[in-house]
Amino acid sequence: MADQYPVQTKQEPKSTSTEDWVRSDVYHNSFLVPHDPILNAALKNSIVNGLPEIAVSTSQGKFLQLQARTIQAKRILEVGTLGGYSTIWLGRALPVDGELITLEINDKHAKVAEENLFNAGLSFKCKIIIGPGHDSMVKLPSNEKFDLIFIDADKPSNLKYFTEAKRLVRKGGIIIVDNVVRFGRVADPEQSDPNIEGVRLLLNGLKGDKDVDATTIATVGEKGYDGFIYAIRN
Ligand SMILES: C[S@@+](CC[C@H](N)C(=O)[O-])C[C@H]1O[C@@H](n2cnc3c(N)ncnc32)[C@H](O)[C@@H]1O
Repeated sequence: MADQYPVQTKQEPKSTSTEDWVRSDVYHNSFLVPHDPILNAALKNSIVNGLPEIAVSTSQGKFLQLQARTIQAKRILEVGTLGGYSTIWLGRALPVDGELITLEINDKHAKVAEENLFNAGLSFKCKIIIGPGHDSMVKLPSNEKFDLIFIDADKPSNLKYFTEAKRLVRKGGIIIVDNVVRFGRVADPEQSDPNIEGVRLLLNGLKGDKDVDATTIATVGEKGYDGFIYAIRN
């Protein structure tokens, strides 16, 4: 019976470049992500206002949205708003009575995000809290749990954010942390900077942590070679 089917062979490895990843991302997105004037306008407004171009990529945004939909999230917390690009992806996954709280330290970023969320018709369910993310997190009550928490702010504080996120997420809820691979530099003993060390601190904290089950998902694409830590609260 098995003889009737061709044998699946291992793919030949090939060294890749940023151009390969960008082309691949654009190619896949052309089938899977329709043109979206609102998201494009949010990115354009962010650039016009001088915000850094460090939002999640299109496919990462879509992935976050799919995760939120998979678990039928009603409450989402985001740490690190920038111009609200990822906030729009996540906010759209929520039902009309859902709520997203996003934390941002920079007034200008928050103002641009406010405009972008308004243009996306999401202001009624997405609230920006301005201030240091950790200070804002510790003030959030433990009895109002979130279904999904996305951590994407200053990387040296990753472990502090993650520790608070464990308190705030429901059992079975998801915590996702962005930029944990950093072109492979996190695993390279020759490399060190505060962002890399922030990820290493988080990984050390996660080792043997019985509160969560976690893995790293590579997010190779238009933003380069990076990854999400994806954790489920036990
Ligand atoms: C990578 S950007 C967020 C991108 C956004 N999540 C997206 O994909 O569209 C990081 C953001 O975190 C903010 N940030 C940095 N340090 C912070 C802190 N201590 N508390 C809150 N936000 C902070 C920065 O101002 C910046 O807007």
